[in-house]
Amino acid sequence: MKRVVVLLSGRGSNLQALLAAERAERWATAIPARIVAAISSKPQVPGLAIAAAAGVATEVVESQAAASREAFDAALLAAIDRHAPDLVVLAGFNRVLTDGFVAHYAGRLVNIHPSLLPSFPGLASHRQALAAGVRVHGCTVHFVSATVDGGAIIGQAAVPVLASDTEESLAARVLELEHRLLPICVRSLLEGRVRLDGGRVVAEQEAFDQLAVLAV
Ligand code: GRF
Repeated sequence: MKRVVVLLSGRGSNLQALLAAERAERWATAIPARIVAAISSKPQVPGLAIAAAAGVATEVVESQAAASREAFDAALLAAIDRHAPDLVVLAGFNRVLTDGFVAHYAGRLVNIHPSLLPSFPGLASHRQALAAGVRVHGCTVHFVSATVDGGAIIGQAAVPVLASDTEESLAARVLELEHRLLPICVRSLLEGRVRLDGGRVVAEQEAFDQLAVLAV
């Protein structure tokens, strides 16, 4: 059985979606893996409670306590590698990782970001989308590279922006899509149907088709 480690810093709803997929009996939504640990950069966040309630090992590697970015990443890397993961998923992990850390996990480190990248990287992506006046918004799962929110795109899900949308209403609709998209991407990666090859994503045709989710 493949092993997944989830990194988070807060709410943990994407972890919850992965846990639901791990336990799903329907093949279409099931992921062929065990989530073996949830590691948080902050103590006492809801995501850790979600993991603990599901019987998943939890750990805190506190970013505040680290002397430098390098020291934090070294501690984080050691904590992750104790669980020998096949895949590491950043699900609301609010730290920028060093190049050495990213290189160590090349091809098995992915992030979910709440925008249709390459539009609106960084913080407040829903506010950015509303300010730009885009008519379609969404979320992206991508390999992590040295550039923030800049790695090769694995999958995307899109929703129309409504005239009545506020940052909150838009965020809520995109979050629902995140919970659909992330398990699909994780499953394709774990099955080896999607992989990183020389900085580009290579996917089997059938898997590739499933990596674009459109909601109306
Ligand atoms: C999500 O919107 C994710 O895309 C972003 O941070 C948020 C985390 O939410 N990177 P949650 O902790 O999974 O509920």
